[in-house]
Amino acid sequence: MPALGFAASSGPLESSGTDLSDKASLQRGAGLFMNYCSGCHALSMHRYSRIASDLGLSEELVEQHLIQGDAKIGENINTGIAAGDGNAWFGKAAPDLSLTARAKLGGPDWIYSYLKGFYVDESRPLGWNNTVFPGASMPHVLWEMQGIQRPVYGESHEGMPPHVEKLELATPGRLDAREYDQVARDISAFLQYVAEPAALKRESVGVWVVLFLAFFTFIAYLLKLEYWRDVH
Ligand code: HEC
Repeated sequence: MPALGFAASSGPLESSGTDLSDKASLQRGAGLFMNYCSGCHALSMHRYSRIASDLGLSEELVEQHLIQGDAKIGENINTGIAAGDGNAWFGKAAPDLSLTARAKLGGPDWIYSYLKGFYVDESRPLGWNNTVFPGASMPHVLWEMQGIQRPVYGESHEGMPPHVEKLELATPGRLDAREYDQVARDISAFLQYVAEPAALKRESVGVWVVLFLAFFTFIAYLLKLEYWRDVH
């Protein structure tokens, strides 16, 4: 069967492969987000300082490289543009992404697939459309990295709009496909962390719980040896 998946927003999503225990990935994701996304999207439920301590970044580094504009390290992450301007430019205000990775069906996979799903569409006001979010009013802000994708339409059925069967890379970007996947994965992982910062703690606590259980099993085993020695 041909890949019909991209017809609607309910199409299958690609697996993002995000890993919250991969600090380097989260750090890169934070950097990419601040540089490419925070101009329009806020993470208003977060402070820069929290991100610094959770991701193991020094406050100086965050101040010098991640904070856009003149915000302070203790402030929440707001966007550079006022909501009204966003409405005027994109027909829609860019939503706050604090909880998006939890709100979307598929979570980080949705974001990953979305970041990979942009294609040129002259019928759209900004010239971009998206397979995961048809009609999205967000331009493809990472096109220089990914390159420009063109849609390949499937057979059209009477009365139905043509559906995008797959995307083809028309103009290569700065990165190859694998490198761009990593960029999309890092951003998705960062937004997954942002939507549930406690998950970071939980994973590291998880490691200790497993180690404790392993240790405890070992002690129980020694005890068993000890008891059985008397029985024999
Ligand atoms: C130029 C402004 C702009 C930039 C930069 C931008 N976006 Fe967007 N984004 C938008 C707008 C506007 C929407 C709303 C689209 C709609 O609803 O039609 C949106 C929607 C989204 C959504 C869907 C949110 C939802 O709740 O439906 C996600 C996820 C998203 N953007 C992620 C990103 C990421 C990740 C980046 C950085 C790589 C980014 N955006 C950069 C303007 C922007």
